[in-house]
Amino acid sequence: MFVKRISPSNAGVYFFIMAKKITRIGILTGGGDCSGLNAVIRAVVRMAYHQRIEVIGFKFGWQGLIENDYQILNLDTVSGILPRGGTFLGSSRVNPCQDVKWVKKIKGHFSQLGLASLIVIGGDGTLRAAYELYEKEKLPLIGIPKTIDNDLLGTDQSIGFDTAVSIATEAIDRIHTTAESHQRVMIVEVMGHETGWIATHAGIAGGADFILIPEVNITMNEIIAKIKERHNRGKTFSIIVIAEGAKIKEFQDKVKLKESMGEFLAQKIEEKTGFETRVTILGHIQRGGSPTAFDRVLATRYGAYAVTLANQEKFGQMVALHGNEVGAVPLEKAVQKLKKCDLHLYQMAQIFFG
Ligand code: F6P
Repeated sequence: MFVKRISPSNAGVYFFIMAKKITRIGILTGGGDCSGLNAVIRAVVRMAYHQRIEVIGFKFGWQGLIENDYQILNLDTVSGILPRGGTFLGSSRVNPCQDVKWVKKIKGHFSQLGLASLIVIGGDGTLRAAYELYEKEKLPLIGIPKTIDNDLLGTDQSIGFDTAVSIATEAIDRIHTTAESHQRVMIVEVMGHETGWIATHAGIAGGADFILIPEVNITMNEIIAKIKERHNRGKTFSIIVIAEGAKIKEFQDKVKLKESMGEFLAQKIEEKTGFETRVTILGHIQRGGSPTAFDRVLATRYGAYAVTLANQEKFGQMVALHGNEVGAVPLEKAVQKLKKCDLHLYQMAQIFFG
């Protein structure tokens, strides 16, 4: 099939491609999974195929590289995975820099397998390790940002965020109808780790009457005032979206780590208003299932661009989205600190509170 496409004008290019030594790159997915990871793996493998690069996939993130557990990826292994959630390579939160013996093993396997580079798909933890291995051990690494939390600096968006927001928005829509039927205050707790990206976006999209995020300090009185304001207008129900990492000023030390702030808030609202209140914690539903069209396109663009960077030997970079352009930023910048939620957007959302 390839041969048929040769014309006298591109025969030279074809000869060059065929003569080029086959190189081998690796890929792994680390940290919490999200929708769109399989779409990236597929894009990397297909783009690499066109450039006569062989791809091997390490199992369960850094763990696979430490244990030399991998599989060769080809067009067949990535066939049909574009719409599938999760990562068929598996993932883990193993931090390779935690143990010098692991770093030594990684370096050994790297040269044993003849890897020209490694594409690391991860969030802040996984990419911080990638940066360390690039910086200290001079390993040729390239990052791809993925996290439903959207908290990686240097990129407008990470893979998985759009899908998580869509799932949370649909959940809020569904909560709306039952809230109305029963005249209840409904609290929807979303993920986001230490940031309020999912809460703010899904809250706006779902028409939430109040949104709580870690970046903004809110008092209990402000929440109660908004709920009462709605009820005084004749509304008999309210929807509150809370990010899992959000705090309420008066109670920030009272809720222990791992305890749900949503549950705590529900109890306080019932106590202070007498309105029946229920909580829905969306949890890992936000990380599962098929990616949105946006995430599939972003994943495909990121995967293809990462292979371009590998070919150009531009290591220590993370692919990134700026506006509608896909480019690269130094890994160092991406892992400096967490990208906090856009406060202009949050302020706009506040107009619709109450
Ligand atoms: O970073 C993604 C994320 O889903 C966070 O939003 C959440 O706090 C955390 O991972 C949950 O981690 P685990 O799946 O290990 O419980």
